[in-house]
Order: sequence, then C-alpha cells, then structure tokens
Amino acid sequence: MPITPDQPILMFDSGVGGLSVLRALRRVLPQAPVIYVADNAGLPYGGKTEAEIAARVSGLLGRMTERLRPRLVCIACNTASTIALAAVRDVLEVPIVGTVPAIKPAAGMTRTGVIGLLGTEATIRQGYVDRLQAEFAHDKTLLRHAAPDLVTAAEAMMRGGDDAGGAAQRAAAALRAMPGGDTIDTVVLACTHFPLMIDDLAAAFGPGVRFIDGADGIARRIAHLTDGQPFARSVPDQALFTRDDPGLIALAPALARAGLDHTVIF
Ligand code: DGL
Repeated sequence: MPITPDQPILMFDSGVGGLSVLRALRRVLPQAPVIYVADNAGLPYGGKTEAEIAARVSGLLGRMTERLRPRLVCIACNTASTIALAAVRDVLEVPIVGTVPAIKPAAGMTRTGVIGLLGTEATIRQGYVDRLQAEFAHDKTLLRHAAPDLVTAAEAMMRGGDDAGGAAQRAAAALRAMPGGDTIDTVVLACTHFPLMIDDLAAAFGPGVRFIDGADGIARRIAHLTDGQPFARSVPDQALFTRDDPGLIALAPALARAGLDHTVIF
C-alpha cells in the first residue's frame, strides 16, 4: 500500500521522555505528522520485569498500529527498546526504529576512558548494553547507574515542577562515588527522560563532562527511512495517553510546546 501524506509517525514512550526524541525529529522533519503515545498507565517501565515490559509493549504497539496505521513506529524509550525491540519487529509489519544507549559515540568522545551511563534499573542490566559495551567500549570503563528518580523528576518538571536538581545531584554523586568515577568525562543519557533535564545534570556533574543521547541519531534514521515519502498534516498532531490522570492538565503547555495540541485517552 502506498504511503499517504497524512500517515503519521508513531512515537512511543512510557511517559514524557519521548518528547526529547520528538524535539530532534521536529528539527529534521518538521512537516511529518506525529502521534505521540505515552503509556502512562504503565509508567515507570524501569521497575518492571523483562517479561512484563515485552508483553506490554508488544500488545500496545500491536493494537495501536492496527488502529492508527502509522507509516513508522519509533520506540522512543531505551527500556522498551533494549528489551522488546526484537519481539516487536517480529510481530509488526511497519518499520520500527528503536532507541539504543549511545555507547558507541561516547567511546569516541571520552578522553579519560571513563564513561558514565545513566538509565533505568531495567536498562542498565540488559545484555543489549553488555553487547554494546563489548563491541564499542571494550577498552573503556563504563560505569552504570540506575536513576529512577530522574524519571519521576522529569515527569514532574514537564508538569511545571522544579525538583529536578536533587535527583540530578544524587545521580551524579552515585556515579562519581564508583571506582574511577571521579575521572568520568562523558555521560550517556540512556533514558529518553534524562535529556529533558540536561541543565540540572550539567550543573550536577560540573564542567568538563559532556553528555550524549540517541535523539539526533534516531531522528536521522527516521528521516532516512522515510526519505522521498509525501508528508502533509490533515489533523493537528496528537498525544495519546493510556490512562486519564489529573496531572495531564498541567502537562498541556509542555505538550503544546512540542506541537501536540490535542490530548486523547486511548
Ligand atoms: N523513558 C524511558 C527510557 O528511555 C524510561 C522511563 C520509565 O522508567 O518508564 O528508558
């Protein structure tokens, strides 16, 4: 079936983290219709088991692609991608772009050879991360830390709260306290929520530390896979949530800034 101009790109995360990827996508493909899906009923993914995440993500994306007919699905979530990407690709016909912790570029950036990696509990224990480390950073030290409270802080910040500083300080202190942590010069933000708090993280780590995440690479990959396709919006871009919650009202301004003016409960 040929792609129709208004067929959306579906961008999926457990919450607001995928907005950091959407921001990068808007820069390269401003004309692309987007449906942003937040599985807020399942948030946070980071504390769930692999089986729970795989079943949840495959089931939801199956239903959503059937109903919304996207031209491409972007799993804008490291936790879901490192666990469920292969399973989702097996069952869906539509092209899927996942989010991979940016260990490869970090290995090229570090001068001290010591890289920090911040992710969710589920992401940092994945074999997927072990394999990226073995392939691209075997001669570096990769220090991993799970920072679930950074997810909570990013969700709160996007609703107008300002508590990100404490969570960022705790994440930086935990990585610094690991053997070799005092020489970290590069930090991989392996959770899409974390680039939303880059200012707090930069302040917490101090000068001389660079941050890298996957958003620009994902946006380029999507642009490549949709190269030559027609794009035209027939309806405003929407944000879909899997659960109604009173906090969604406070989130509306941040969604509007991301070009998502309509909120729908799926
Ligand atoms: N944004 C998600 C990620 O990139 C995780 C947030 C969560 O724990 O649900 O890993």
